[in-house]
Order: sequence, then structure tokens, then C-alpha cells
Amino acid sequence: MTPPSRSPEGSARPGAGRRGEPPVIAVDGPAASGKGTVALGVARVLRFHYLDSGSLYRLVAYRALSQGALIEEEGGLTALATGLAASFEGERIVLDGRDVTLAIRTPEVGAAASRVAVFPGVRRALLVRQRAFRRPPGLVADGRDMGTVVFPDAVLKVYVTASAEERAARRHKQLIEKGNSVTIESLLRDIRERDARDMGRAEAPLKPAADAIVLDTTGISIEASIAFVLERYRQISGEARTET
Ligand code: DC
Repeated sequence: MTPPSRSPEGSARPGAGRRGEPPVIAVDGPAASGKGTVALGVARVLRFHYLDSGSLYRLVAYRALSQGALIEEEGGLTALATGLAASFEGERIVLDGRDVTLAIRTPEVGAAASRVAVFPGVRRALLVRQRAFRRPPGLVADGRDMGTVVFPDAVLKVYVTASAEERAARRHKQLIEKGNSVTIESLLRDIRERDARDMGRAEAPLKPAADAIVLDTTGISIEASIAFVLERYRQISGEARTET
């Protein structure tokens, strides 16, 4: 989750945040849009840190489900989010000393994560944790509200999207490869429900930031999407350097 901390761009810190903080590239978008793969690919090339903010909501949901806690009870969920004993070790996610990297990736946990994410208390509890990922030389942050709420001063905001059908087909392929048996129809239904909840909630709803670039990846390869984001970042970095 945190690639090595060395900037290939040298010490000029191109596109640094407004208060001289490390630059953030915000990659938001709906479930299974490919934003995670794009964000991770960009982070690897730039050797930036990487935040998969959805995993935090998934951890809260997973913990609640495994404790038999009510997914509708804000107070309990907020306490759970505040005291979350989770750590990110490379690509592994450890919760209460147990490797839960794969366990939090199931469609059930994803749906429960979307339900716990509607609560302002839960979102507030996870805010500081997310901002702590902003470290030199920079951060690529992936989620739903990276550009709108968590890092409003991100130097580049990309909203990655794709048709619901294409997203369901991609998720289906991923899950089948991991040995899960699931139908495209049920995934499409889940994705539509999740979109409606993530976009319709009152607190930090999923929507492109006013200054975001919308990247529709329907029919576009991951490599081309990564190249597009890198090109935009390099343009911005170049402009920042010329201004200084
Ligand atoms: O990206 P994901 O599928 O792992 O996210 C799971 C859920 O977590 C998603 O449906 C809504 C919630 N989420 C959120 O509300 N805000 C974020 N920044 C990231 C995820």
C-alpha cells in the first residue's frame, strides 16, 4: 500500500499542494470502475504512496459483520471506526493481527461498506487516518470523496467511470479468477444498488469534484488510462515548475 518513498522527479516536488504539502492525485469513481488499478499503477510509476480509502470502510464493515454488530447503528459503528486496529503492510491489510486482505474483498463486505459509509460519524472517524497517508514524495488517493472532501487541494483530480455493464463484467472476471462463483446479473444489481447509495447519500456523496477530469474507461485499457493520468500530472508538474 505504501511504495518506497523516493521521488523520481527529484527534490523540486512538482505540483506540491497549496501549503507546500506533498502533492496528492485524487482518483475517485464508482465501484469497479478500474480506479484502484489506475491509482495503484500511477503510484508505482511516480513512486508515490497509495491510499485505497475504500479498504478502510470495508474494514469497518468487516469488523461489524464479524462482531454481529448492527450495520444501521451509527454510534457503535463510529466507535468501531475510531478504534480500528488496522495496519497496511505492503499490499497486506492486517486487522487485529489477522491478514484480512482477501476477506474484505467479497461483494458482501463491499455492500456493507457502502452502508456503513453513509454515517457522518464513521466518515469523520476515518478522515484523520486518510490524511495521514499524505507523505513525501506524494500520494495517489483512491475512493469516492478524495477530491471533494478528504484532499480538496489535490493537484490533480480524476473521476474514473465506466458503464455499469462493463464494471459488472470486469468484477465478474476478477472474482471468477479468485475462485468465487457469482453471476454477472447479481453483480450488476449490486453495482447499481451501490451506485445509488454512494451517489445519493447526504454526506460526501460520490460525484466528480468541480475541477475533476472525467475519465470514462469503457472500452479503454488500464495501461492507456494510467498513461492518461501520468500525462496530465506531468503537464501540471511542468506548469508548476514554469511558474516558480
Ligand atoms: O472502493 P470500494 O469498493 O472498496 O469501496 C467500498 C465502499 O466504501 C463504497 O461502496 C463506498 C465506501 N467508500 C466511501 O464512502 N468513500 C470512500 N472514499 C471510499 C469508499
